[in-house]
Amino acid sequence: MFITFEGGDGSGKSTQITKLQNTLRKKGYDVLLTREPGGTLISEKIRQLILDKNNREMMPVAEALLYAAARAQLVSQVIRPALEEGRIVICDRFLDSSIAYQGFGRQLGDAVNVINGFAIDGCMPDLTIFLKLDPEAGRGRIGSREKDRIEMEPDAFHRRVAEGYRWLEEHYPERILAVDASGSIEKIAATIEKAVMERIHAL
Ligand code: ADP
Ligand code: TYD
Repeated sequence: MFITFEGGDGSGKSTQITKLQNTLRKKGYDVLLTREPGGTLISEKIRQLILDKNNREMMPVAEALLYAAARAQLVSQVIRPALEEGRIVICDRFLDSSIAYQGFGRQLGDAVNVINGFAIDGCMPDLTIFLKLDPEAGRGRIGSREKDRIEMEPDAFHRRVAEGYRWLEEHYPERILAVDASGSIEKIAATIEKAVMERIHAL
């Protein structure tokens, strides 16, 4: 089973992923945790390149291709082999991030879907947990943490990203579960656990 987490910066993805991983391990499941962009030596190098705030001249198409390249490496080196071994894979961000940030945020549209189809070669999540939170609230949680190149984008960019996530939620209701991320950490964790266990049993 392949589970991905999505949501704006500060929506609580890392917090909830840690909780879900602990819950599943306690139940005896073999869980592999990874993240995007990153998760392999090569993908982490690509991550540094993409998020480096000195790379101001990076073109949107180059950015989209770099995310897709990092993803292609992660899928073939880590995610697909783990799924073939019957493990549960949890990934912090995946394809939907590219649709929201590059497709909507950078306004590259459907091209992002096309290059990512090539990158993931059919390796789609079974379940995507979308932590829904007002971008300002997310930024408030992050506080004074140093911002990467994407986080430094203006409000208009982040509003388009939020619109992208709304579009995804509307178009993939069977795969994407939107969870109100403004509640308490425990309440959100319980909602996620219930949805994941239901999906595991259904599979
Ligand atoms: P993300 O991985 O989506 O950027 P994090 O899990 O790192 O988000 O959370 C960002 C910050 O918000 C952390 O300091 C975390 O402790 C806090 N946080 C996470 N979930 C909640 C919540 N439900 N309510 C309040 N604060 C939260
Ligand atoms: P991440 O480290 O997950 O940021 P955070 O912990 O703040 O949520 O992701 C780094 C940034 O990369 C984040 O701002 C979102 C962006 N991103 C894209 O623009 N496209 C993508 O395909 C992915 C995976 C991430």
